[in-house]
Amino acid sequence: MDNRQKLIINGGRRIEGEITVQGAKNSVLPLLSACVLAHGECVLHNCPQLTDVDAACRILSCLGCRCVRDGGTICVDSSAVSGYEIPDDLMREMRSSIMFLGSVLGRTGRCRLSFPGGCELGARPIDLHISAMRQMGAVITEEHGYILCSTEGRLHGARIMLSFPSVGATENIMLAAATADGMTEIHNAAGEPEIRDLAEFLNKCGAEISGAGSSVIRIEGVERLHPAEHSVIPDRIAAGTYLCCAAATGGEVILSRCRTEDMTAFLNVLESMGCRAYSYGDGKLYFSGKRRLTAPPMIRTMPYPGFPTDIQAPIMAVTTVAQGTSVFVETIFDNRYRHVSELVRLGASIKAEGRVAVTEGVQSLTGAKLCAKELRGGAALVVAALAAEGTSEIVGVNYIDRGYENIEKTLRQAGADIKRV
Ligand code: EPZ
Repeated sequence: MDNRQKLIINGGRRIEGEITVQGAKNSVLPLLSACVLAHGECVLHNCPQLTDVDAACRILSCLGCRCVRDGGTICVDSSAVSGYEIPDDLMREMRSSIMFLGSVLGRTGRCRLSFPGGCELGARPIDLHISAMRQMGAVITEEHGYILCSTEGRLHGARIMLSFPSVGATENIMLAAATADGMTEIHNAAGEPEIRDLAEFLNKCGAEISGAGSSVIRIEGVERLHPAEHSVIPDRIAAGTYLCCAAATGGEVILSRCRTEDMTAFLNVLESMGCRAYSYGDGKLYFSGKRRLTAPPMIRTMPYPGFPTDIQAPIMAVTTVAQGTSVFVETIFDNRYRHVSELVRLGASIKAEGRVAVTEGVQSLTGAKLCAKELRGGAALVVAALAAEGTSEIVGVNYIDRGYENIEKTLRQAGADIKRV
């Protein structure tokens, strides 16, 4: 993607109209990894057009899979998986490439990847992934920044207790355990909707997984997996981000193709601020934001079903123009306030220290030149720029393109004065 691109936003206009929610980035990525385990061609529908998805397809091609995209559908033929190395440049481009570890190890008995560098959100260790693979029989050595994993024969089942309900570690264990020898139990597993989506796909491929969505997931290993067809669930984080755009501008939107049952935590916060939300049930959600919202006193990010860390930045942008004070506690990542200094450039009143940030709502923001430094923080700048009076420029659009499909087209259709140059 072209790193020199920027978004030009003339704020102060209400976001109104219908927005169709994209397929979930954090579901399609583990699903693409799961295709490595199926001997044959899998078909995934409702795949979003994102640079992270392109990167995952390049990894599949490096492994010997044939990956063909046609609009929202991606076909992955893993009949001839030969490789077991995740290319260095792709590990650097996309940290979540770590989730190929479980499927490549399960399919080939080996995996070589470089340590995913720290990234925009702090350290991002993978100790839970590594210790789980070792418990399942993988021999793992680390040298010169590379991780080398191998197993003599099949992995074997294990009882794994996660010290933190890590989404990625839960997914990697499910992928590795699907064709391991025996039963694997994951205790303190992550319960995000994307975990359930992965389990549903793997079971369509012949896996025997139960308990996905709860804190104990059981996987009875099977000999091998066959291909399947699947539709990716809607992206609850993208949906929530667009609701923040409507809330920040006093607009009203109808989201289609979204699952409101996955969005309860942050819908409750937006409603507590004075917004109104009404679910039609057929994947449509009516939402309206009043002109002046009341700030939520406290927002603490938590594992699902608590308030999602990925919506912390976008909702902070809304609180900058709400009435009152909000205290944020970011309990999931140790460096997820890099958008604060940029929001302050728009006139927001925010103080951040460690995992805590405090916003004081101001009467209005004014446009400024801004720099996106990571995906969801970049989205927060878009939310705030839409609310600000005057013109804002946002560079670093490549970060936003990792998680939001055609963000300027989506918002322009909903009344925003936004363009990419
Ligand atoms: C997934 O990341 C998502 N990414 C993230 O979304 C999301 O913020 C996160 O889950 C939490 O919901 C994808 O699904 C591709 P974790 P992941 O493992 O799996 C620590 C976005 O914006 N940890 O649950 O990396 C880790 O450092 C992205 O779409 C360890 O200490 O999240 C972090 O502090 C950002 N050791 C916390 O756990 C480990 O071995 C949560 O990490 C693994 C994680």
